[in-house]
Amino acid sequence: MDSQAIDLVILPNPHGSDPLDDDPEYLVPLKRAADILTECLERLPPETVRSIQVDEAGKLSSFSTDPREDSTIGTEYFPLEDYQLPPEIAKQTVLRSELTEIGRLTSGVDLISYPSSLCGSRGRKVKGQDCYVFKYNSKSPLGAWAEIQMLARLPPHPNLVLLDRLVLDELSKSKVVGFTMRYVPNETLHSSKSWPSFRLRWLRELMQVVDDLNLKYGIIHQDIAARNLIVDPESDSIVLFDFNYAYRVGVSGNDVLSTEGEWKERDDVKGVLLFLYTLITQDPALGLEYQVHLVNEEDFFDPAKWIKHPDVELDAPVADFYFELMAWARRRRAEKQLTHYTQAPEHVDWPDVPVEEKRTMNLSFSVAHRRELGLPYISWERPASSRVDPARRLLATGRYADEEAAAQKGSRRGSPGEEAQASRQRSGRSGPRGCRWPTLQVGGRR
Ligand SMILES: Nc1ncnc2c1ncn2[C@@H]1O[C@H](COP(=O)(O)OP(=O)(O)OP(=O)(O)O)[C@@H](O)[C@H]1O
Ligand SMILES: [Mg+2]
Repeated sequence: MDSQAIDLVILPNPHGSDPLDDDPEYLVPLKRAADILTECLERLPPETVRSIQVDEAGKLSSFSTDPREDSTIGTEYFPLEDYQLPPEIAKQTVLRSELTEIGRLTSGVDLISYPSSLCGSRGRKVKGQDCYVFKYNSKSPLGAWAEIQMLARLPPHPNLVLLDRLVLDELSKSKVVGFTMRYVPNETLHSSKSWPSFRLRWLRELMQVVDDLNLKYGIIHQDIAARNLIVDPESDSIVLFDFNYAYRVGVSGNDVLSTEGEWKERDDVKGVLLFLYTLITQDPALGLEYQVHLVNEEDFFDPAKWIKHPDVELDAPVADFYFELMAWARRRRAEKQLTHYTQAPEHVDWPDVPVEEKRTMNLSFSVAHRRELGLPYISWERPASSRVDPARRLLATGRYADEEAAAQKGSRRGSPGEEAQASRQRSGRSGPRGCRWPTLQVGGRR
């Protein structure tokens, strides 16, 4: 499932439709949905499937391709001026329709190339092309607000991947749908292949960048883990990315529409500690997929537990890693803690999401509704990777370059009647569909 092909899987789910984010039990039905999807994929048609329904035995009972059932919330992205960025940053933009898809890294993260007009760039070559990473949130523009703000405003740092360009939508050419960053051509530290021998220097760099973020800029990353760390082969340095969960110290996420805020038990000192312990010991009790906030860091203080896994190579004895890390952790814990990011000497600041915009977002129609009304909307649908035509240039809009101009003209015309009729004609359905069970949202643009 690597296009935005399925929005809803309806299956028996004892945890209800609104489970707690950190409920590990929720992962069970989620995994089941993924398994069922994998099994059903072969039997689904090539066009966009909006939902599938599964019976008690886990068998596909019906699916729908009716665009009216598209449950995606219309993504009313924020206009560039709402970000109130310094002019030199605000002018670093590129249209989504100018980006060519080179590959898909994960949901909401693609490998892309810029148009030739932006060449002379600092991209890294993949398949002979200068590549960048395009990150976007196809479900909610609110989710990316803080990440874009901090990555655009933080000063260059050798151990951070920051924002390169703001990506604007191709319809209004003024709304921020995502951002690009430089591509680090390596696997993350999650994959042991990416670091034949882990260096003490990389640990020191990590502790330094965490100190800089927390103490100099007033930002807590909250997701320090191997999957968000890469060794840059060019500089031979460790780099941290993925600021999805990052927040400014003291900023409360009480507002329902704010995504920025403290997630208890996920501070960065603990993140580094658990990262290094897992990397060195590969302790199966913790596993590689541990959730920082569900683990008690004190369980890993005992040096007797720090036994190097035989497959792991280090460029210094384990004791050197352990004692440097513990000395740092002790110092950080003993220090006076910041209670507000403004106490940090070079704190980074940005405006709140404009209240008026929040209100509009809250009321924004689903994509299906927008389609019916003939309102413009930003589509994130695209061909599944197995069906991409290699002879044509696929753009980050999900359309081939030869289709793009016509598609943009069509969406600007936006005749409600025509589009509604077309959507009815395109609709298709198979089997009965009722909402007997809670629904599990699993869709995503992969
Ligand atoms: N700048 C980059 N250079 C190289 N690879 C990258 C870069 N940014 C992201 N990736 C790849 O894309 C993946 C997802 O990126 P990122 O962690 O930012 O997204 P995410 O949606 O927040 O992921 P998750 O929630 O799984 O951590 C990374 O694990 C990494 O493999
Ligand atoms: Mg990540």
